Parts: sequence; structure tokens; C-alpha cells
Amino acid sequence: MTSVLHNQEHGVLTLTLNRVDKKNALTADMYASLADHLTQAQTADDVRVVLLQGHETVFSAGNDIADFLQQPPADTNSPVSRFLRGIAVFPKPLLASVCGPAVGVGTTMLFHCDLVYAGDNAAFSMPFVNLGLCPEAASSLLAVQLMGYQRAAEALLMGEPFMVESALEFGLISRVLPPAEVNAYAQRQAQKMAAKPLASLIETKRLMKQGKTPAVLAQMDEESAVFARMLKEPAAVEAFSAFMEKRKPVFN
Ligand code: COA
Repeated sequence: MTSVLHNQEHGVLTLTLNRVDKKNALTADMYASLADHLTQAQTADDVRVVLLQGHETVFSAGNDIADFLQQPPADTNSPVSRFLRGIAVFPKPLLASVCGPAVGVGTTMLFHCDLVYAGDNAAFSMPFVNLGLCPEAASSLLAVQLMGYQRAAEALLMGEPFMVESALEFGLISRVLPPAEVNAYAQRQAQKMAAKPLASLIETKRLMKQGKTPAVLAQMDEESAVFARMLKEPAAVEAFSAFMEKRKPVFN
């Protein structure tokens, strides 16, 4: 079964994470598919807005841990890097619809979305420290900018999850809805936006982001280098083995 579904309607390209049995954990193949769709959407005249969505019970459990162990991201051409850079520089509006757990990259990708609609069951977390890793997707920069240092530290240094109330308060999400309604609402909003003049959408987004992208890409590159190194170190190896063996990790 295809793990990333795509559908195009009324100027909206909808990319749906479709691996619910594994909580939409993202494999290298899924990152590659998402990155390829974003690359094509940049220049496709009939795509004006992209909507990323999951299932009403789960957005994404983050990186697929087994897949990550088998094919760790090697460089900036890796599928995960291509996807992260793709969302950071995507010139057209990028919307997301999020329900249930949004773990790791499931949360960090949202920092790059222009509008995020969430189900009241959404739970956000960036538990990189619990896995012996460091933040990715420039979240070590963007979380601090959006949430303030203390709340970012709670999320990134403690690995504490946060719920929709907090996410709404500090502006990670724009609206909370019943889970069964979120994808349909996000689709209506995306189509409403797609009916506006494309040049205005692109120029407005460019002006809003102007000056910020180089710092975001530089942070992403540094995070990727540290992340790749930490992935091979004993803490991450233990955390990942523990996850696969369904036990608690023991860090010395
Ligand atoms: N990578 C690989 N497989 C994953 C996964 C991940 N990140 N997250 C979940 N899965 C798999 C589980 O191993 C399980 O597989 P199985 O049915 O073959 O045993 C299946 O998805 C269901 O997961 P489960 O943990 O039973 O679901 P849950 O509803 O109890 O919990 C989560 C959902 C998302 C809270 C939980 O799965 C979780 O915390 N996952 C790890 C998230 C994580 O650490 N991500 C960061 C990676 S950098």
C-alpha cells in the first residue's frame, strides 16, 4: 500500500501520510516521496497550495526507528534532508492538518507550515533527548523563536509533550476542531486560499519569511551534522534498541 497518498483538486495538492498501522512513522521512502511531490509542486502551475495531513487518530510518530537504523541519513541529499529543506524553502502556502500524536518530525515540520489546523486530540512532542539525539528541522531555532526559551526548553530539554491549548496560545496552530472535522476543514481553507492570485500568495509568503530562511537552513545543516553523529553513539543505539525490544532504555 502507498504510504504517502496524493490528490490534487481545485489548486490544492493534498499529501496524506497513510501508514496508520505504524502510526505514520516516516521511512526514507516516504520522505523521498514527500520531497519529490514538493519539488514538483514548486513549479506546477496547477498547484497553488499544499496540504499535509495524517489520519484523525494520528499525524505521525516521527522517524521510523527501524528504517532509520537500517538506512541512517548520510548527508544533505538523504531523503529526510531533502524533505526538511523542501518545506523550509517551499514558496507556495503550506498547510497542515494534525490529529493525535505528532512526535519528533511530526511536530518539527509544523514550524515550517503557514497554517496548522489541529484536532482536539492532537499531542505534540519533540522527545529527541529521550532518544540520545538532538533537535532537527531547525526546531532548536524555531521553537525558541515561537515558544520562548523556557517553553522550548520544556519541550526540547525535558522532552515534555504539549497539547492544543499551549500550541494555540503560542501560535504553532491556528485553530482547534473535532478530529473528525479537521481534514475537511483544512481542505476547505486550502481551496479558499488556492482561489486567490498565486503571485500574491507567493510574494506575501516570501516577504513574511524574508531574511529568516538563511538562518533556518544554516541551523538545519548544523543540526543534521550533529544528529548524524549522535545516531551512532551509545545513547541513541540503546534508545532505539529499547524501542524495538519494547522495553525502557537504560542510559549509563
Ligand atoms: N518507528 C517505528 N515504528 C513505530 C514508531 C516509530 N517511530 N512509532 C510507532 N511504531 C510502531 C510500533 O512499533 C507498533 O508496531 P507493532 O504493531 O508492529 O508493534 C505500531 O507502530 C503501533 O505503535 P504503538 O506504540 O503500539 O501505538 P500507541 O498508540 O501505543 O503509541 C505513539 C503511539 C506514537 C505515542 C508511540 O508509538 C510512540 O511513542 N512512538 C515512538 C515515537 C518516537 O520516539 N519517535 C521519534 C523518532 S526520532
